[in-house]
Amino acid sequence: MPVEPLILAIESSCDDTSAAVLRGNKVLSNIVASQKIHQKYGGVVPELASRAHQQNIIPVVSVALEDANIDKKDLSAVAFTRGPGLLGSLLVGTSFAKSLSMSLKVPLIEINHMQAHILAHFIDDEQMQVPEFPFLALTISGGHTQLVLVKDYFDMEILGETLDDAVGEAFDKTAKILGLTYPGGPLIDKYAKEGDASKFNFPIPKVDGLNFSFSGLKTNILNFITKESRNDENFVHDHMNDICASVQSTIVSILMQKVEMALAKYEVKALAIGGGVAANSAIRSAVLNFKNTHDVNVHIPKFEFCTDNAAMIGIAAYFKYQRENFTSNAVSANARFKFESL
Ligand code: KG4
Ligand code: ZN
Repeated sequence: MPVEPLILAIESSCDDTSAAVLRGNKVLSNIVASQKIHQKYGGVVPELASRAHQQNIIPVVSVALEDANIDKKDLSAVAFTRGPGLLGSLLVGTSFAKSLSMSLKVPLIEINHMQAHILAHFIDDEQMQVPEFPFLALTISGGHTQLVLVKDYFDMEILGETLDDAVGEAFDKTAKILGLTYPGGPLIDKYAKEGDASKFNFPIPKVDGLNFSFSGLKTNILNFITKESRNDENFVHDHMNDICASVQSTIVSILMQKVEMALAKYEVKALAIGGGVAANSAIRSAVLNFKNTHDVNVHIPKFEFCTDNAAMIGIAAYFKYQRENFTSNAVSANARFKFESL
């Protein structure tokens, strides 16, 4: 039996500095340093993110190796997120991975962050089941909203994506309007559980094909809250649960409408969701419902593999390693890195 490769993977595309060690398709360690500095600004500040990556990267990699009980000289390859993401953030991980692979004289493997979110489903973990090809992937986070037809590991077709804000931004910007702390998604989820989703109505935007749009919703909510608060200064406070439930159910409708259209158009065996917003309880139950209505398997990875993490970069790198698809050391980070087809 061939020896499974030991891969160190680095993720630094946004505001989480992460390093993971994988043996084959199994995760030995997966360390994430989340940057708290952005909280007081209500969103990620790119310049601060790259500085924090610079501070975090060496300790995070050291802990990942330690946790995995691996000496760096035993590594088979070093993988990193080449893009898409914030350029200043990507540069930190890219430069670090290039230097390390050069000094260890092991192959370097570039990974597309969005493909990695999808390939996270293939991590060998007893709590997760691997989806069967072809499947539909919905990647939803603070930075992305994408609907992808996945025919094979590196044969993916983007069917639709957001034309403006990502779905996580819709949650976070709504939370900001309501005076909640950043990131507000989990709070909206929490308050919505106690609220009546039919109390307030927000229109579903008409967007062509399988694309999404969330910026109109944000404007509608802002106008609605401004108007109601003019008549009653305690409006938000007194109706927090119902507002959150109504907003959340509108977001769920926007997403599920497109998933439903995609399921009608493409014959797939499964529906797989990922990204930090996949933690949302209403989205989870809406997605799980497709099991009954559309006869597809539904896959939701463990939360640590949903949010930005290096284990997903490692699993994607494992599939590239098997194909000996390595990256030249002349590579540079690419903020708009497109899907790779191999
Ligand atoms: O994947 P992630 O950790 O980071 C990136 O944006 O790449 O996702 C973070 C996003 C934030 O917008 C946060 O508000 C949202 O995920 N989020 C949620 C929930 N948990 C996290 N949104 C709605 N409901 C939740 N339970
Ligand atoms: Zn992400």
